[in-house]
Amino acid sequence: MSAPDRIHHIGVAVADLDESIRLYRNALGAELVHRAASETEGLEAALLRVGDGEIELMSAMREDSPIGKFVAKRGPGLHHVAYGVTDIEVALAAAREAGLELIDAEPRIGLHGRRIAFVHPKSMGGVLTEFVET
Ligand code: CO
Repeated sequence: MSAPDRIHHIGVAVADLDESIRLYRNALGAELVHRAASETEGLEAALLRVGDGEIELMSAMREDSPIGKFVAKRGPGLHHVAYGVTDIEVALAAAREAGLELIDAEPRIGLHGRRIAFVHPKSMGGVLTEFVET
């Protein structure tokens, strides 16, 4: 089965990670599950659980990083939708077959230790789309 079985998380670009974690904790009772940084991607991220769903908050470590450029261009806000898949190789093959343009031709290890891959937003009606192997 190659179709995603659920929405895994929603990615949100933020200006200040600590402030945003506080906001999600106070406003929604979200629980901080994991926090990590990537020097190569120039971002810091926090995964928070809200009920049985998750929100991934991301802030830029550098202005010229992808998140830095995103926030400079559009401001903080919704960044991507991530779908959970059981086998990411199968999901990528199915996406390719469906004519989607992949940003990651091969899966890579995400900040939270799972295998991930991104689909270009122009293939998905303007929505940056991520697959996460669960
Ligand atoms: Co994500």
